[in-house]
Amino acid sequence: MKIGILGSGEVAKVLAGGFLKHDHETMLGTREPAKLSGWAKEHRGAKVGSFRDAAAFGEVVVLAVKGSAAADALRAAGAGIAGKPVIDATNPIADAPPANGVLKFFTSLDESSMERLQREFPEARLVKAFNSVGSARMVNPKFAGGRPTMFICGRDDAAKKTVAGILDQLGWETADMGGVEAARAIEPLCILWCIPGFLRNEWTHAFKLLR
Ligand SMILES: NC(=O)c1ccc[n+]([C@@H]2O[C@H](COP(=O)([O-])OP(=O)(O)OC[C@H]3O[C@@H](n4cnc5c(N)ncnc54)[C@H](OP(=O)(O)O)[C@@H]3O)[C@@H](O)[C@H]2O)c1
Repeated sequence: MKIGILGSGEVAKVLAGGFLKHDHETMLGTREPAKLSGWAKEHRGAKVGSFRDAAAFGEVVVLAVKGSAAADALRAAGAGIAGKPVIDATNPIADAPPANGVLKFFTSLDESSMERLQREFPEARLVKAFNSVGSARMVNPKFAGGRPTMFICGRDDAAKKTVAGILDQLGWETADMGGVEAARAIEPLCILWCIPGFLRNEWTHAFKLLR
């Protein structure tokens, strides 16, 4: 598959490494392609361009920018996101310090970031995924308890099926929580996931849904 990633941070680079490992063609998009030249040299086959280039390149697009910049990045991506699955890995973290390890969001429990994005970009088929685990455990993580669970949601079943296939390759089981509104519950999993990190410097866990 061709995968275009909007972002140049840890998440973008780790996911790009995972996609390349599984033989997907991968392009990272950033406002400053020059800053990824060293990374691109170390990753054979990795391509780098603008947000617009990466969106146009991908059959699947990954949104992996700072939460407050998500809409700007999708605007910059332009028509390239139309009709495609867009994996939304972002979290709406506010620019305020955590309270006793609990992050602050700029959204509310009645309106998630992904709902806002889906409303502004109805042509994109947004799927929430990868937001509730640290970048170090995103690609084929190994846990004694088996495969961890990635909670996903989105309005388009075909897009979610494509994303579930990618998650399976990257070592995750998928729990589909339904429509875009479920992002109200999935985005705050990031807050929960980060608490042991802020309180006890534990950043290597993942969630698993037991049935
Ligand atoms: N770090 C993790 O372990 C982790 C885990 C799960 C989810 N997440 C979420 O994944 C997303 C990416 O996290 P990250 O830690 O990799 O990187 P980050 O530092 O949160 O974001 C870096 C990216 O944001 C873009 N950006 C920042 N301001 C922008 C603006 N005004 N307009 C357009 N783009 C802008 C940057 O674009 P340029 O390339 O152009 O500079 C860069 O690509 C975040 O939403 C985060 O909450 C992170």
